[in-house]
Amino acid sequence: MSSFDSESFAAAGQSHLLQRLDQLSGEQAAYFQSELERLDLPFLQRLWQEDGQRKAETVPEPPALVELVDQAARTQAFSKGQALLAEGKVACLTVAGGQGSRLGWDGPKGTFPSGLITGDSLFAQFAGQIDRETKRYGKAVPWCIMTSPLNHESTVSFFEQHHHFGLDPSTVYFFTQGVMPSVDCETGEVLLASPDAIAFNPDGHGGTLRALATSGLLTTLRGRGIEHLSYFQVDNPLVRALDPVFLGLHIDGSVSSAEVTSKAVAKRSPEEKVGVFGVQNGELTVLEYSDLDPEVCEATDDDGKLRFRAGNMAVHAFGLDFLDRLTNGTGLPFHRAIKKVPFFDESTGKMQQPASPNAVKYETFIFDALPLASRPLVVESDRAEEFAPIKNAEGSDSVQTSQLAQSLRAANWLTQSGVQIAQDALGQPVAQIEIRSSTATCPEDLALCELPEKLGPEERFLV
Ligand code: UTP
Repeated sequence: MSSFDSESFAAAGQSHLLQRLDQLSGEQAAYFQSELERLDLPFLQRLWQEDGQRKAETVPEPPALVELVDQAARTQAFSKGQALLAEGKVACLTVAGGQGSRLGWDGPKGTFPSGLITGDSLFAQFAGQIDRETKRYGKAVPWCIMTSPLNHESTVSFFEQHHHFGLDPSTVYFFTQGVMPSVDCETGEVLLASPDAIAFNPDGHGGTLRALATSGLLTTLRGRGIEHLSYFQVDNPLVRALDPVFLGLHIDGSVSSAEVTSKAVAKRSPEEKVGVFGVQNGELTVLEYSDLDPEVCEATDDDGKLRFRAGNMAVHAFGLDFLDRLTNGTGLPFHRAIKKVPFFDESTGKMQQPASPNAVKYETFIFDALPLASRPLVVESDRAEEFAPIKNAEGSDSVQTSQLAQSLRAANWLTQSGVQIAQDALGQPVAQIEIRSSTATCPEDLALCELPEKLGPEERFLV
C-alpha cells in the first residue's frame, strides 16, 4: 500500500499510476515512488483541461523589420557590436536539450557530423566560431549549453573526449533544463517509459529561462561581467554565433531597449514550416505555422512579397536584465505538441513503438518571451549566409541541404576573395568547399589565408 493520496491521483485522472505502483516491489517500487513524487498533479490536470481555452487573438499584422540596406547604419551597428565584444560583455547560449527525433541520430544532436569535408560535429563548428572571436577580440566568450536530463551526460562526455574543441573548459558551462511528463493524447494519462519509470520529455526551449536561474548561471555570468546573451539553436551550422552588427543594433538605444532582438529570414514559400514574426494584441510575437490560416500565409504585399515573410530563425540577443526579470515572473505558457512517444503498455506488459502520434508533450517556447519585452527588435538577415538547419534525416532541412548551403556560402566567400570557381550551367559553383569556422567567420577573415587562384569542377577544398 503506498503513502500517496489516492484521491488526488483520481482527481487528476492518474489512478493508473498508483495501480502500477502496487504491482511493483523492492527497488522497482522505490524507484517508481520517487518518479511519482516528481509529479505536480494539480498542474498537470490544469494543463490537460486548459486545452482549447486559449485567449482570443486579434488578427495579426506583420512586424516592422530592420532591413539594414543603409551602409552607414550597418557600419555604426558594427562598431557598437565590436566594442561590446571587446569589452567581454557577451556570452553565447546554445539550446541543445531537444530530442532530435526527426533526425533520428543516436546521440545528442550537437554531436552530429555536419562539416562537409571534415565531418566536424555541430558542437565543433560552433566552438570554432567562439574560438575565432575569442582570439579576435582578446576576451573569452563564455559558452552556455543547455542540455536535458536525457542527454546531459553524453553531451558533457563528448566535450571531454574532444578536449572542449580547444576552448578553455572554464568558459564552457553546461546547465540542464527541466522535464514534463508525456501524456496519452486521448486520455491525458501519464505514459510510462519502462515498467517502473515515467516517460518524461524536456520542457521545451522555453525551459532555458528557469534552468538559467535555477542553475545559478545567470548570477555566474553577471559575475563575469556579461550583459547580453547571443542565443542560437544546436541545429544550424550557418549561424553567426557572435554577429557584431546584430549585437550593435541590439544595444542601440535609438531603436531597441536591449531586452530582446531577433533575426528573421525571408520565408521561401507560404508552405515553409517555419514560425513567422507578427504583431498580435499589440505585441511582437511568433505565430506558429500550424496556427496560421492558409490565406494569411499566402497573402502578399503590393510588391508581391509574402506579407508574413519574416521567418523566425531562432536567433536572439537577450539582455541579462530582461532575463532576470522574466525568471522572477510567472513563467512562459505551456504548449501541446502531439508526437510519437514509445511507451510501456501496461495491458500487454510490452514496450510499444507507435506508428502515429500518440502523446502530448508539454513544452514552453523561448519566443513567448518576445511579447514580454519592451521595444523588441526584428532584424532581417540573409538565408544563404546564416540559415541552413539540420532537422530531418532526409529531404528539406536535412544534412544534404545544409551541407550544400554551407558549400555555397563558402564558394561565395572565396569568390569575394578573388578565387575563380567552376560553375554549372545554372551558374552554381560545382566545387565542394568547407571553410572551418575557426579559420573564418566572415569573408574578410580569408584575407589571412593562402587561397588558390581557381577551383575546378568536382574539386574538394578545405581551408
Ligand atoms: P526542435 O523544435 O527542432 O526540437 O528544437 P528537437 O527536439 O531538437 O527535434 P525534434 O522535433 O524532436 O525532431 C529546436 C532547438 O531547441 C532545442 C533543440 O535542441 C534545438 O536546438 N530544444 C528543444 C531544447 O533545448 N529543449 C527542448 O526541450 C526542445
